[in-house]
Amino acid sequence: MAVATRPGTGVRALMDLRAGDLGGMGAPAFDHLQAGRILAVRDVPEIHELARTIRELAAGFGGAHGAQGVSELLRSGKVSGLEVLSVLYRVLRHLRDSRFMGCLFSDFMGGLGLPAPVLLDAGYFRIMVPHHYRAARERPELFDASEFGPADPYETEQMLQDAKWGNAHRDIDARHTHFQVNLWFPLHDVGKEQTLILFPEAYRRNVSQYGALPGPENPRDWGYGEPLQVPLRFGDLLMFHSQQVHASPSQAPDRNRFTVEIRAAAACIDDNGRVYRRSFWRLENFQPRGGRAGNPSLRAGQLAQPAPDQPGLEYALAGATGHAVVHRLFRRAHCSLIAGYLHRHDAVLDDAIALDERGWKNIVDRLEEFPCGEDLWLLVARLLLRQRQRQLAAQILNKVHGETSSYFWALEAGRIAIEAGLYDVALSAFGAAGAYAGRSEVALDRYTRDMPPPRSPMALQLLPARARRAAKIFSRLAQRMQSGPATLADPSLFDHRYFWDPSLARLESETGHRLKERVKRVLGPAASGAIGRVFRFFKEP
Ligand SMILES: [Fe+2]
Repeated sequence: MAVATRPGTGVRALMDLRAGDLGGMGAPAFDHLQAGRILAVRDVPEIHELARTIRELAAGFGGAHGAQGVSELLRSGKVSGLEVLSVLYRVLRHLRDSRFMGCLFSDFMGGLGLPAPVLLDAGYFRIMVPHHYRAARERPELFDASEFGPADPYETEQMLQDAKWGNAHRDIDARHTHFQVNLWFPLHDVGKEQTLILFPEAYRRNVSQYGALPGPENPRDWGYGEPLQVPLRFGDLLMFHSQQVHASPSQAPDRNRFTVEIRAAAACIDDNGRVYRRSFWRLENFQPRGGRAGNPSLRAGQLAQPAPDQPGLEYALAGATGHAVVHRLFRRAHCSLIAGYLHRHDAVLDDAIALDERGWKNIVDRLEEFPCGEDLWLLVARLLLRQRQRQLAAQILNKVHGETSSYFWALEAGRIAIEAGLYDVALSAFGAAGAYAGRSEVALDRYTRDMPPPRSPMALQLLPARARRAAKIFSRLAQRMQSGPATLADPSLFDHRYFWDPSLARLESETGHRLKERVKRVLGPAASGAIGRVFRFFKEP
């Protein structure tokens, strides 16, 4: 293993190794990442498998011509026409929406020694085509209009990109309790001028971000220390802690570039939806029966297959992972992806096929064979409730709050139960959430000690003390609703984000719920007044 040393510091910033040597570094990769090292991992089999899958799908989506065009595109970077670019775009969208990347990299991520629970996101594909971006915008039949509109920072990223440079930043710069790692790789060879720019010397330094920079040519002059620009062959990747300062490649602004990113959130007791994005999914959902390491290419290959026109029960039951089974219930891959977010509007659940009670029992029995995460089970519970399978849904919700050790998932199980009027289930869930919070070791900055103060000092995760309070108040509200007249029932009050989210206004506009009026209606004049008084009421012991 070659280990480069930063000039003048004696600190080893870059570890350059082959994929097969990841297990033999003396300490888990996690320890090196946490210490601020950048790992360049060479010749990663998963990347070769991804390229094979892209070519195969391109043939399916665009025929022999499409496959040839995409191969040529990735090899030379030359765009022979927008139609070929569109084939690549459709292929990558399909891979993202089916969570192919999470599954393909599940064993790789599982081998880094990351603290559990680990969540993987859906992956980001960046199609950087500076000379074709504007023309692509004019062809909505080839590229969806959503690629070009305003982007929501919490949702999946737009894939097509115009030329841009600079913007040195940390991916996470707010207080949080977990550890996030980035993988970055190109789909072709990149030299120094087209590779990601990292600033390992700034890892623990308090530096400004997204500021005006003198010019793309000399990142050494940006004030973040010696830049690290590692040329990569196709198949190589860079791996680093999300709080490493980095910048997009910027020294070849005219050249097309096709790159991929996938992130993992470790020791993450929630869905990572507030700290980063709403596309994370538990690692277990991608693991085979019994949780044994298997062949991730085979499992991911199943996700890459385009769905039949009429997916049915048998098709779903043939899924080889918990995620594949649930994903195959959906007609459109994108609906499956976005339905995974807990607060997504219920209408997206209607994209799933309708099953009767027997069909759903088969699905649940099949899922029991796999090591599924709480996020997947809660999606199943929501699907069951949407299809009026209340008894089975109650069973799943009880299973989630009974088997988890996370107050977050227990509170969410309770919220979903309240929405369905399952008060007994909800009360058990809130009781469990309070107990889990009482013995939780979750704390801010527990994996990011000695890091500089974040630009956004607000905590973006639910912490144990707040969770206990929420569980207690939710129990009181639920009891009152259960014993009171039906007109009191108001499931919108059970959103624990009201207890901690610093941007209540954004939350209210997103959920459409006006917290103050609703609390007042259920609890009477005691909670009237300004929003601050409502919160004081909530926070009383
Ligand atoms: Fe970034």
